[in-house]
Amino acid sequence: MNFMEIKEISQGVFKIDRRLATVNLAKGEKVYGEDIRRIGGVEYRLWDPYRSKLAAAILKGLKNLQIKKGSNVLYLGAATGTTCSHISDIVGDSGSVYCVENSEESMRSLLNLCKSRENIFPIFSDARNPEEYTGSAEKVDVIYQDVSSRDQSLILKINGKVLRSNAAAYVAIKSQSISVSKNPREVYRQFMREVSGDFTLSESMTLEPFDMKHLFASFRKR
Ligand SMILES: C[S@@+](CC[C@H](N)C(=O)[O-])C[C@H]1O[C@@H](n2cnc3c(N)ncnc32)[C@H](O)[C@@H]1O
Repeated sequence: MNFMEIKEISQGVFKIDRRLATVNLAKGEKVYGEDIRRIGGVEYRLWDPYRSKLAAAILKGLKNLQIKKGSNVLYLGAATGTTCSHISDIVGDSGSVYCVENSEESMRSLLNLCKSRENIFPIFSDARNPEEYTGSAEKVDVIYQDVSSRDQSLILKINGKVLRSNAAAYVAIKSQSISVSKNPREVYRQFMREVSGDFTLSESMTLEPFDMKHLFASFRKR
């Protein structure tokens, strides 16, 4: 008989034999070709750290993940929904994931994903224009940002206005998108300086061996 060890390492995030997983909110459906495990009547989707920076950060020891059941998450740079689908699993039916994406092609995949996940709200917009999508929105609990653009710090600051004080923001900072000539460490330091008036850094980490191009940072809104 094959026994699998399952441990909940953060609310809604599991380790199954050392691989990360979330409980599938859309039973029977895969999002990006991930493996599915059915154990004790529960369907888990394995969460690939090579495809998702949040999974990589969790495996590298990210502390106190503030994305939980019922959380309202503003997701900037959702792409086709790989990471967003796992956040949708974690927050469940009582939470929401507002996904901002400015690529038409990615938005088509996201719209498809929404058919089976009612807690994902796609927003086809530029994350530099939060007034287009935050107008009447309630404050969100968490910002998750993964936009590969030059003005990543500005995008965080202007969207940060929808965050409650002390709420968390998780940011995958891509130095190559900000500057190809500067030393990545200097780019990261500059990012921290630029957001320091609005955010306090809680934790930061590189994501090797899963990803070589980003610094993953966790902040608290001042
Ligand atoms: C690295 S990908 C995100 C991957 C995704 N977070 C995941 O883990 O599944 C970056 C995404 O940000 C989007 N993006 C870049 N600049 C943006 C902007 N200003 N507003 C909205 N989306 C943007 C890109 O179109 C791309 O889909």
